[in-house]
Parts: sequence; C-alpha cells; structure tokens
Amino acid sequence: MSVHVEVKRMTVPQLRACKGQRKIVALTAHNVSTARIIDDYLDFVLIGDSTAMVAYGLPNTLSFTLEQAGQHTAAVVRGTRHACVVADMPFGSYQESPAQAFRSAAYLVGMGADAVKLEGGEVMADTVEYLVRRGIPVLAHVGLMPQYVNAMGGYLAQGKTPEAAAVILADAKALERAGAFGVVLEGVIEALGAEITAQVTIPTIGIGASPACDGQILVTEDMLGLSGERVPKFVKRYVNLEEIMRHAVERYADEVRAGKFPETQHCFGTKRP
Ligand code: KIV
Repeated sequence: MSVHVEVKRMTVPQLRACKGQRKIVALTAHNVSTARIIDDYLDFVLIGDSTAMVAYGLPNTLSFTLEQAGQHTAAVVRGTRHACVVADMPFGSYQESPAQAFRSAAYLVGMGADAVKLEGGEVMADTVEYLVRRGIPVLAHVGLMPQYVNAMGGYLAQGKTPEAAAVILADAKALERAGAFGVVLEGVIEALGAEITAQVTIPTIGIGASPACDGQILVTEDMLGLSGERVPKFVKRYVNLEEIMRHAVERYADEVRAGKFPETQHCFGTKRP
C-alpha cells in the first residue's frame, strides 16, 4: 500500500499576491538536508546558480550546468513541503532563443521546480513572455547580475548614476509587462530598490537592495556562516555554523583518537553469540 502525503506548497499566485500585504521570505538551497530545515520558514526556496560557488567551490556561477541545476532542484523538492520551489536557469541555458529557454525551463519544471529565475533586463522580456504564455512562471533578476560578471567587470553595485538607475527601472518595468511574477533586485543602491518597488505591481525581492523591497533573499551558506571569512556587505550572519561545526568535529576526532567513541550505547549486541 502506498501512503500519499499531501504537499501544500506556497504557489506562484500566492507569492504574487503578497505584494503590499506582507514580506516574502526566501533563501537558497541545493541539498535535501538544508532544504528540510529551512522549508518551514520560507515562502520560496531558490536553487541558485550560486550553488556553483558554495557547493562546488567554483569562482563564479558561469559554469553551472542545466543538469546540475536539475539534480539539485530534485533534491530540494524532496526536502521541502511548504516553500514554493524556484530554480535558477544556468548561464547559456536560455539566452540563445525563447525556444531554447523553454526547453531548459521545461526540464527544470520536470525536475519539480514550480518556477524558474533568469537574469537580464529588457533584452530578456520576449523570452519571459514566451515562457509565461506557455505556462512557466518566471522570476526576473536585474541590477547586479552575476552571470554578467565579465561584462560588468566585477560584482559592483548598480544604478549609481541617474542614467544607470533609469535603465534598471525600465528593465524591471519591461519584465513586469512581459509577465514575470516577481523581480529580484540585486546589488542596487537603496533608493533605487525602493523606487522600483513603488513603481512595479509585482513583488520585488531584494538582495543587497533595500528594506523597502517586498521580500528578501540571501544565500543560506552566507547567513549561516558557512561560506568562509569574506562576508559581502549586504549579508547579515545570523550564526557562525563554521565555528559550531569545527568544535563538534574536533570533539569527535579527539574522542575517536582517545578510544572514547563509540560507547556501549552506540554498539549492537555487546554479548558474544
Ligand atoms: O544564485 C543565487 O544565489 C541568486 C541570488 C539572488 C540569491 O541568484
């Protein structure tokens, strides 16, 4: 007999309806154990292409593949029951044409994603419309776009001049018109984050943007203190898990070396047969 466990996830229309009602809370995840722990507290979980850096130790997000995104998405889906699951479209999996984007997005939806996220401003509006009209909800991403790191010359805050800010605002509006259900604003000056939030009817999700955004997202390893010593300015570390893990592993190593672990209660059947 199979037992059917009903999964009632946050839906994309519910996320969209949060605008003006309450803040949206999101984090990244790429494995089942983390996803299981953070799920209860989130509206959506993102399988970010930052997985390339935090899980694979790569220098940037550019070599994250569609297959990796798919496998990590499936793991996060298995670890969650509540949060809406949004999968990042890897660099090179959607920029060529709307049809290429649809194939890639359909693969991620097939792996369990409820929606996809892609980077790019007005230039991606046609692609967003193509996906949305074919049933794939899209979360847009403007401002600092890590997939454009080579073109931008580094991970630099965006929208610092009135002209640059106007372009990012126009990008957000174009993506809203194209049907995106929300837009991530990354690394933009605070006033611009607030202005875009006021001017679009879809939720804005800030990361290094503004407290005025309709929601916030962080990379989980950053806020848990698992991503090394360099902490980006926009990250708040809520705990130093590295310190806690080091302490636990040191105790384990000491006890194994001293013959103190395992103890009787960790062994099966202490009497010889
Ligand atoms: O990949 C990522 O981590 C992101 C951020 C916006 C959270 O895209």
